[in-house]
Amino acid sequence: LKEEALEVLEKVATAKELADLRVKYSGKKGALTEILRGMGKLSAEERPVVGQVANEVREAIEEVVNRKQDEFTKAETNERLQAEKIDVTLPGRALPQGGLHPLNKVIEQIEDIFTGMGYRVAEGPQAETDYYNFEALNLPKNHPARDMQDSFYLTEDLLMRTHTSPVQIRAMEAMKGETPIKVICPGTVFRRDDDDATHSFQFHQIEGLVIGKDIRMSDLKGTLLQFAREMFGESTEIRLRPSFFPFTEPSAEVDVTFVKKNGERVWIEILGCGMVHPKVLEMGGFDPEVYSGFAFGMGVERIAILKYGIDDIRHFYNSDLSFLKQFARQ
Ligand code: PHE
Repeated sequence: LKEEALEVLEKVATAKELADLRVKYSGKKGALTEILRGMGKLSAEERPVVGQVANEVREAIEEVVNRKQDEFTKAETNERLQAEKIDVTLPGRALPQGGLHPLNKVIEQIEDIFTGMGYRVAEGPQAETDYYNFEALNLPKNHPARDMQDSFYLTEDLLMRTHTSPVQIRAMEAMKGETPIKVICPGTVFRRDDDDATHSFQFHQIEGLVIGKDIRMSDLKGTLLQFAREMFGESTEIRLRPSFFPFTEPSAEVDVTFVKKNGERVWIEILGCGMVHPKVLEMGGFDPEVYSGFAFGMGVERIAILKYGIDDIRHFYNSDLSFLKQFARQ
């Protein structure tokens, strides 16, 4: 029995087979147990001899079973380690990384420049009342700039704001006559334009407003020069051309020098500005005899187009990844 058992056990190939054989030999109904159980029928002399032999056999079987079991466990562990091996020297897989939209990038950049000069960032609603969008900005009811052609009216009194200038009035009201005010107000604006390469019915502006005592046109010019140089480079120059806006007096349009791809240096208009009109100061709650201020408004798309050399405003809006990706890591 011992020889048979040991031979069979040595050949065992799986843990399951091993467990079965163990039961067969030394389990409750196993061959060895049968022998031990039958010992009662033996004579007094035979009993110790058989008992000793049976114990030896059991020990021998247990020894092989345990050894085999160990072998199986080791083999299994090795196999698993092999299967789970990772090569730590492999390069990582690059995950696609998002980036800011070029318009948001430009807005953030402009905000950085002005907050660096002590301005706060303020915002106002996109659906604006006739009062804030026009009336309080010295654009009375019959003013041609209020042309229905240009504005998206929601009701008789409510429209999608056509510029960010209404935030000037809101900022003044919020300050309740306290100065200084130094705010910039980025936001979306709406005009009834047909979309083409240079027009969009919805675009973005950034408004600037400063109110205090002794604020002069030279402060405005110095501020804009500083802005232009931080935005477009140290050697940028600006020039102010006389213009007209109902809410500023005097008013100006501002050009910056821009170097084209062929090296030619040209003037390009980037914003409108002026000294806050006395009537506007008054409507915003400031005494024009005591306070003065300047305001400016620029188109974000226009700045982005200049800065990045973009040829069509519609690129900003159609979510074309091959366009947007160019700005992801700048
Ligand atoms: N609101 C004017 C526009 O949309 C720009 C502007 C702002 C001009 C502030 C002067 C002062 O064209």
